[in-house]
Amino acid sequence: MEKLYENLERTLASLLEGDDDHISCMANAAACIWELVPEINWAGFYRLRDGVLVLGPFQGRPACIRIPLGKGVCGTAAAENRSQLVPDVHLFPGHIACDSASRAEIVVPLRDKSGSVRGVLDVDSPRLRRFGGGDLEGFEAAARVIEKALF
Ligand code: SME
Repeated sequence: MEKLYENLERTLASLLEGDDDHISCMANAAACIWELVPEINWAGFYRLRDGVLVLGPFQGRPACIRIPLGKGVCGTAAAENRSQLVPDVHLFPGHIACDSASRAEIVVPLRDKSGSVRGVLDVDSPRLRRFGGGDLEGFEAAARVIEKALF
């Protein structure tokens, strides 16, 4: 894994250790990603509540509050319980544009110990094709640290 993501994983693990308050941990995790990962314009969380993704702590411009399962990149990741790597958001059918500057996106499901989806980690970039396989691997590792602390 890239050095950047090894550092992110380590930093998140020490930041989240010893507390399981969802809001505080997600807020610090979003701030940590925002600080360490270059060329991003949004980093944060949606929590699955009563079958709908609801906006959680984030860094970046204000975003849509509720995303139905199966809608947009986030709703697709949650419905399919599978990460979404989107090199060009304009080519993703049903992409929800919260910030018109976003051109690439990665969404990783957060799961509890039983494997059920509890939310998603969402990261956007203003640069087309900003994210590749190394970034996906890195954010999946970050998501594993976050879900372990929370659920
Ligand atoms: N683009 C996302 C919506 C959330 S924002 O990017 C913060 C989507 O299509 O689900």
